[in-house]
Amino acid sequence: MASLSSNDSIVIVGAGIIGLNVALVLAEKGYGQSITVVAEYFPGDTSTYYTSPWAGCNFSAISGTDINALRWDRMGYAHLSKLATHHPEESYVQWTPSTELWDEDIPRDKIQHMSEYLKDFRVLSDAELPRGVKFAVSFTTLTVNAPKHIKYLYRRLQDQFGVRFVRQRLPSIQAAYASPSTKIVFNCTGLGSGTLPGVEDPKCYPTRGQVLLVKGPHIQTNMMRHGVDYETYVIPRPGSNGNAILGGYMQKGVNDGSTYDSETKSILARTRDLSSEVSQQEPEVLAVVAGLRPSREGGARVERDEILVGGQKRILVHNYGAGGTGFQAGYGMALESVATVEDMLRDIRDSIARPRL
Ligand SMILES: Cc1cc2nc3c(=O)[nH]c(=O)nc-3n(C[C@H](O)[C@H](O)[C@H](O)COP(=O)(O)OP(=O)(O)OC[C@H]3O[C@@H](n4cnc5c(N)ncnc54)[C@H](O)[C@@H]3O)c2cc1C
Ligand SMILES: *[C@@H]1O[C@H](CO)[C@@H](O)[C@H](O)[C@H]1NC(C)=O
Ligand SMILES: *[C@@H]1O[C@H](CO)[C@@H](O)[C@H](O)[C@H]1NC(C)=O
Repeated sequence: MASLSSNDSIVIVGAGIIGLNVALVLAEKGYGQSITVVAEYFPGDTSTYYTSPWAGCNFSAISGTDINALRWDRMGYAHLSKLATHHPEESYVQWTPSTELWDEDIPRDKIQHMSEYLKDFRVLSDAELPRGVKFAVSFTTLTVNAPKHIKYLYRRLQDQFGVRFVRQRLPSIQAAYASPSTKIVFNCTGLGSGTLPGVEDPKCYPTRGQVLLVKGPHIQTNMMRHGVDYETYVIPRPGSNGNAILGGYMQKGVNDGSTYDSETKSILARTRDLSSEVSQQEPEVLAVVAGLRPSREGGARVERDEILVGGQKRILVHNYGAGGTGFQAGYGMALESVATVEDMLRDIRDSIARPRL
């Protein structure tokens, strides 16, 4: 692989779902050849410090209730809907029936907002609620085969749009400005707060989750139960020959990539209670994994900023802290982070228009 240098007008640090979506939005606008993505880990790699391959992964009503989260979700649903409708095989995104149950009342404003765009949205009647459940909805969700989907983006960005990828662990975000021709850097480093010294955002923290990859071709329905102090879910995985993800955990502040048998047992017991498809036939456990969601107090940061590099002001766009919703909200976050630099993009477009010798 090449190194970071030469004509990198736009540098994206991070090749998780967040960085890849930023690259996609820019590439769709015609900037593919001006983009270099630099990252320590790429699609196909596995590491505790690379969250994207571990996602379940579904679109759910579990995201934040703030106005940003609501907007990003809506854009993300529209984007994933297109993929599921037009390119389900290549993109590994699929329409899937889903039921979500809450043990506590949840903010109705958010549900009202989501009901406006979620396909086949319905609030379950009291008679339909299992014991202990206060509120439930069903809708048609989108499930994503997370490791395959990021590989799809990775390939498409290179083959269709000419985006360059450079494998390098940056010692600091300043190192992304190695080339004087770099106009914009996007910081999409996920849990990078732990690995980018000197630039730690104290609001960032990991949220650990353990999940089971199981063989279960009969598991066709997405189910989630949001308890007061637990999260249980069943997510069929598209294009996987009948695998599903069973979970899970939301352990705030826990920075531990190990897996635990006690948690595996608890997940199996809870998902059996939740889903008749799981209880009907004991699923074979293929893998047990733990991932760390890159969470941030107050929600993700999508913002344009300036940074001093060698005494010069350079443009830095923040796009990190997606927590448990990088797949469902990532495309919306990418659209907005790109919109913050429209003026800079115009300059880059002008220089592309002039032929380079
Ligand atoms: C168990 C589990 C289930 C989940 N389920 C869902 C779900 O159903 N739906 C959903 O929307 N989301 C889900 N998520 C959340 C989702 O996985 C994350 O929001 C998303 O992966 C975050 O992506 P990211 O690109 O910010 O970070 P990452 O995927 O971690 O990518 C970070 C990138 O930055 C690079 N990087 C960092 N520091 C440096 C450096 N110094 N130099 C060079 N490169 C660097 C890394 O190498 C990597 O390429 C789940 C997460 C977990 C753990
Ligand atoms: C389902 O989606 C929500 C929100 O996107 C996420 O937080 C949760 O972890 C997901 N479940 C799995 C198994 O990925
Ligand atoms: C880059 O993102 C990380 C989170 O991944 C954050 O902690 C850090 O402060 C950001 N760097 C800069 C220079 O903003």
